[in-house]
Amino acid sequence: MSTHAYRTPTPDPDSNEHTPRPRYFTPRHDDPADDADTTDGYHSGPPSSHSVSETRFPASSQGYSERAPSESATSASLVPPAEDALASAPAPDPVMAHGPGTLFLPPPGEVEDRFDQDSAYDEESLLGDDTMTLASYITNYRYENGRRYHAYRDGAYWGPNDEPASEQMDLAHHMYALTLDQRLHLAPVQNPGRILDVGTGTGIWAIDVADQYPDAYVLGVDLSPIQPEFVPPNCTFEVDDVTLDWVFDEGFDLIHIREMFGSIPNWSSFLQQAYQHTKPGGWVEIVEHSVHPVSDDDTVGPDHFYNLWGRTVIGLGEKFGKPFTIWEEAKGLMEEAGFVDVVEVRYKWPMNGWPADPLQKELGRWNQLRLKIGIEGFMLRLLTTVGGWSIERAQLFLAQMRKEISDYSTHAYLPGTVVYGRKPYS
Ligand SMILES: C[S@@+](CC[C@H](N)C(=O)[O-])C[C@H]1O[C@@H](n2cnc3c(N)ncnc32)[C@H](O)[C@@H]1O
Repeated sequence: MSTHAYRTPTPDPDSNEHTPRPRYFTPRHDDPADDADTTDGYHSGPPSSHSVSETRFPASSQGYSERAPSESATSASLVPPAEDALASAPAPDPVMAHGPGTLFLPPPGEVEDRFDQDSAYDEESLLGDDTMTLASYITNYRYENGRRYHAYRDGAYWGPNDEPASEQMDLAHHMYALTLDQRLHLAPVQNPGRILDVGTGTGIWAIDVADQYPDAYVLGVDLSPIQPEFVPPNCTFEVDDVTLDWVFDEGFDLIHIREMFGSIPNWSSFLQQAYQHTKPGGWVEIVEHSVHPVSDDDTVGPDHFYNLWGRTVIGLGEKFGKPFTIWEEAKGLMEEAGFVDVVEVRYKWPMNGWPADPLQKELGRWNQLRLKIGIEGFMLRLLTTVGGWSIERAQLFLAQMRKEISDYSTHAYLPGTVVYGRKPYS
């Protein structure tokens, strides 16, 4: 494949010699201090801190998240939302859902064709076969049913890249911190020199891990350039499709893969690729959860709506060609790919604050808020394009889910796994 053409070489933190001349983001804040380096070591984009080429990222700040790291959901002052606040949290506006942003509802046959074009490891060129510039490939976002979606590799990913989607991702990051006792990873990596965050989203994990390992080079890759402009100097973001061939010059000590469910067509090939790009002795960690709520006490009976929800998401993932079941398959697939010392750690995310256990209760309250904000983004594109549902039917389905997640008599949770494994030394 020829996506290599616009790749930037791995940046040398002390030099830009090999990097195409970068154009840095224009801060969207009015405060002139935003243009200067800050005292906490964060930069708004001087060469050594954010070596993103103009071919990879857009020339303007259009579409960039306005959140600075200090506003992220990991702030120590966070407290879980009160239950009455959850009940009154605004649901997505159904008028917007039908509104003028509805630009794209392709006929059913076209959907499959378009998704087929996204098959993994293909030979598709992203340069030279189109008169559009690469920047417009990245920034001409697609609007569907009032939500904003990525433009680069249009249609490859089910989720929006707008502000509510970012908020949902950052809430999930906070929940992972709670789940993992404030650790960013469980893999016992020592003094990592190079770290890759696959499908980095808002970049919140990459930024935190760059802070934790200031001597490491941290690279976050995503289809959407929604990462903040203020990043630690050792953190870089690139727009790329991780289902294409990886062309990194050097291997990584840690490759982090989180919530890539429904995004990877062939996990075996994907993990083989991750294996090839892991240094001997290095680690790959996969953090995923189920999309099908279950209970241990039969409060989710056979006819419960959660079963319909779970079957629908999993079925749409299969139709889309990108499964949502990686959370329970990751360990076996890691071992098949050649990783050793593979460990699986299981966790549970309650659907709301029903548990008595304080940590589970706190996780549940956060999860209820995350789902309330997130379910439209999780499902709208899958339901209306892959599933071919009308927007009205999709909104009714989402409304039913919102009702269920407010029911404390159902002791439901999403099971999840953290799986990590080491590449052998030889
Ligand atoms: C559910 S979000 C998870 C984000 C992040 N890993 C986290 O845990 O906070 C999935 C992310 O993967 C990105 N993504 C999906 N398919 C991708 C692909 N083929 N290449 C690169 N990024 C992709 C999406 O744009 C989105 O930001």
